[in-house]
Amino acid sequence: MSIELAKQMEEARSYIASKIQIAPKVGLILGSGLGVLADEVEDAVEIPYSEIPHFPVSTVEGHASTFVFGKLSGTPVAVMKGRFHYYEGYTLSQVTFPVRVMKALGIETIVVTNAAGGIVPEWEAGDLMVIRDHLNLMFRNPLIGPNDDRLGPRFPDMSNAYAPELRTLAHEVAREQGLELREGVYVGLTGPSYETPAEIRMLRLLGGDAVGMSTVPEVIVANHMGIRVLGISCIANKAAGILDTPLSHDEVIEITKRIRSQFVALVREIVSRLK
Ligand code: 6GU
Repeated sequence: MSIELAKQMEEARSYIASKIQIAPKVGLILGSGLGVLADEVEDAVEIPYSEIPHFPVSTVEGHASTFVFGKLSGTPVAVMKGRFHYYEGYTLSQVTFPVRVMKALGIETIVVTNAAGGIVPEWEAGDLMVIRDHLNLMFRNPLIGPNDDRLGPRFPDMSNAYAPELRTLAHEVAREQGLELREGVYVGLTGPSYETPAEIRMLRLLGGDAVGMSTVPEVIVANHMGIRVLGISCIANKAAGILDTPLSHDEVIEITKRIRSQFVALVREIVSRLK
């Protein structure tokens, strides 16, 4: 983290602020296949990441890469349709820069979503999981470098990285909707290769319940800046070795499509109660 960062954040913030009417209270990061939620935003103002000062330049095609600002169930939101991944070659400062900009715009809470592989043998593709905690097995940290004390502390506490009251809220809403909601530990790895069966056995021994290639850096930075975090994983497939079928990204997309409507209803209602 450099001292330049605050200046870059301010330039990105003021660019966005000049284009929107609302003051977002809640940020959402939508993972692979979960971007449909952005279509539900009312009075939407879309700002492609490529327009925003200091945002990383996206090189891959096929991934959405735009902010959507507006109201979701009455709550002013900043929605990230698409995110930056470490495996794409971005630095972790780049991966987490949008979270910092959302904080500068005023968000107090962030809902971080992803598609993940299920490590718990009983879990099925299509299950939804509230993230209770994570294992940072990327072994890299977006806060490495000089700390800007105006943004957050040098050594942020991570003992409630996923806010307990938001997890409770998610379970309340799921119960009302008759939706079975899992809870567990998300393991963040760099990717881009999926895990071997031996690696999945190791992650299970370490206490992991779901595995993916995102989320951890963003959640670390959110905690650094004092943003409350709710994490939701869509279990897109069983991880390697649990079934003897190979993993494919197409399958991940297919499953997220199938549970889309439940996911959208759940997150919408949670966001409506964050007013
Ligand atoms: Cl099995 N592993 C990882 N690392 N990411 C995933 C996944 C598995 N399934 C969806 N995303």
